[in-house]
Amino acid sequence: MPSPSLFLLFACLAWASQAANTAADNRPQEGCAASTVCGKVTISSPFAVVPEQATESKCGWLGFQVICHNDTPYLGYYKPRYRIQILDIFYGNNSLLVSDIHKLGDFIVFSGVSKEYSCHVPRTNTSSKVGLPFSISTTNLNLFLYSCNKALVPRDGDDDLVETRCGNKTFARVGGNYSDSGDYPAFYMEGCNATVVPVLGTDARSYEQLIRDGFLLTWQETPSSGSRHR
Ligand SMILES: *[C@@H]1O[C@H](CO)[C@@H](O)[C@H](O)[C@H]1NC(C)=O
Ligand SMILES: *[C@@H]1O[C@H](CO)[C@@H](O)[C@H](O)[C@H]1NC(C)=O
Ligand SMILES: *[C@@H]1O[C@H](CO)[C@@H](O)[C@H](O)[C@H]1NC(C)=O
Ligand SMILES: *[C@@H]1O[C@H](CO)[C@@H](O)[C@H](O)[C@H]1NC(C)=O
Ligand SMILES: *[C@@H]1O[C@H](CO)[C@@H](O)[C@H](O)[C@H]1NC(C)=O
Repeated sequence: MPSPSLFLLFACLAWASQAANTAADNRPQEGCAASTVCGKVTISSPFAVVPEQATESKCGWLGFQVICHNDTPYLGYYKPRYRIQILDIFYGNNSLLVSDIHKLGDFIVFSGVSKEYSCHVPRTNTSSKVGLPFSISTTNLNLFLYSCNKALVPRDGDDDLVETRCGNKTFARVGGNYSDSGDYPAFYMEGCNATVVPVLGTDARSYEQLIRDGFLLTWQETPSSGSRHR
């Protein structure tokens, strides 16, 4: 009869091999570059650059795939046109500076085109593009972009509201730390839809620059980041 400690050893081995199998599903394969540079950003584990057309890749941990397009790195896991640009990666504290750069296109003033393409404040929250393994850091502030059904008569306490280039029914304001709950009663405005973009700066007058300058994402430790399988 096996001794209890031997039994425990077998149980541990069984568990370990099961755990290894699970990890193998999202583990990068051999033959992937350990480190690449895209533009000015060094891409290394747990991130990996994948070919632009790849829908699935064995390089990089699941969710950490990077698309390098015209020397500009983007997080690869969202729809191509709306991808989030990577400005810098801080391997020391598991965070990265990214920009929801596509939003800037919404503010472009075209003349003589259909209403849908004319200047408007962004309609989707940046948070809808961010999923695991990443989280939006609460050290970011919120840039609120309002689209209102009528021109506002500014009231007391609204002196931080900035009209955007899209006209007098649209406003920008910076306020409060980013929150996952998306609950911002203090910044609600009657008759207005609010879109939230996390930012690091505080000056709402430069709302486009704030979007361009980006915000911080954090990631959770991968099962064995650094010790890649070779
Ligand atoms: C991680 O470190 C970088 C560089 O020091 C810093 O800019 C960034 O704010 C840090 N990230 C977080 C989430 O604090
Ligand atoms: C709120 O944001 C400020 C400025 O980035 C930061 O110093 C502070 O730590 C943040 N607070 C929380 C709770 O994250
Ligand atoms: C607010 O959003 C709703 C739903 O997308 C839209 O129908 C409405 O026109 C928007 N209102 C304003 C003032 O932008
Ligand atoms: C808002 O803009 C419209 C057209 O651009 C203009 O006719 C109107 O007077 C403006 N309203 C206010 C309150 O400034
Ligand atoms: C964006 O976030 C704000 C604040 O949390 C929320 O009121 C709004 O409904 C969100 N918009 C969309 C399109 O989900």
